[in-house]
Amino acid sequence: MKILVFNGSPKKENSDTMHITRAFLEGMKETRQQDIHIINIIEQNIEYCTGCFSCMRNGGKCILSDDMREILKEITESDLLIFSFPLYAYGMPAPMKAMIDRLLPLTSMEMREVNGSYRHVGQSDYSDLKFVMICGCGFPNSRNNFEPAVDQFKKLFPMNNTIITIPESPMFNAPEAAPVTVPKLELVKEAGKMYAEGFFVSEKLLGDIMTPMIPEEQYAKIVNG
Ligand SMILES: Cc1cc2nc3c(=O)[nH]c(=O)nc-3n(C[C@H](O)[C@H](O)[C@H](O)COP(=O)(O)O)c2cc1C
Repeated sequence: MKILVFNGSPKKENSDTMHITRAFLEGMKETRQQDIHIINIIEQNIEYCTGCFSCMRNGGKCILSDDMREILKEITESDLLIFSFPLYAYGMPAPMKAMIDRLLPLTSMEMREVNGSYRHVGQSDYSDLKFVMICGCGFPNSRNNFEPAVDQFKKLFPMNNTIITIPESPMFNAPEAAPVTVPKLELVKEAGKMYAEGFFVSEKLLGDIMTPMIPEEQYAKIVNG
């Protein structure tokens, strides 16, 4: 399977969230060989969308000439897109949002009503494309924290989406936290394996993954201390 990973953390390889993403990919590789390309978004030259809409009128060609040309080409050649990013201000980091805005050339001007909301029709049929969101965050609570990012992802990619959110993720870069991070990453690996087998992760496994590694109060005390 051709997997394109967007790493939205400005910390690149040192990203807390990428520990989770790498474990997921490891699990996927256990099922079969995978063709994986990781793009560190912060290293790409991606200008802001100008909002001219000319891409939607001229068959998907953007007026801007930067790294998005190659990224858009790669997307159309991929089977799975993984968006790995830290929660920033209850959403995705700005460089990733800038990239998402530039996905506009994949859609046409025509809009259609689907389940109560309007969507632009794709320039091609992307119905087989799959989407995974992996998001880490610094607070110990998932509730009242991840919802805006999860909601946005579901609206952007309403079909074939799988979402993994993990609180307390700075612990993945703390070697002393290994007694709790290693078992958590094993669960994520299991999720990756399950996903590669059927593009699905069970609610039970997702629930176990998204549970905080240590009690909220203990985590806050460590951070504050
Ligand atoms: C600008 C900024 C905004 C942040 N906003 C949130 C937030 O809304 N909720 C949260 O729990 N953590 C927030 N964090 C913490 C990061 O999500 C956390 O440090 C995460 O582990 C970083 O992941 P990374 O190493 O993959 O970049 C924020 C961090 C920064 C720098």
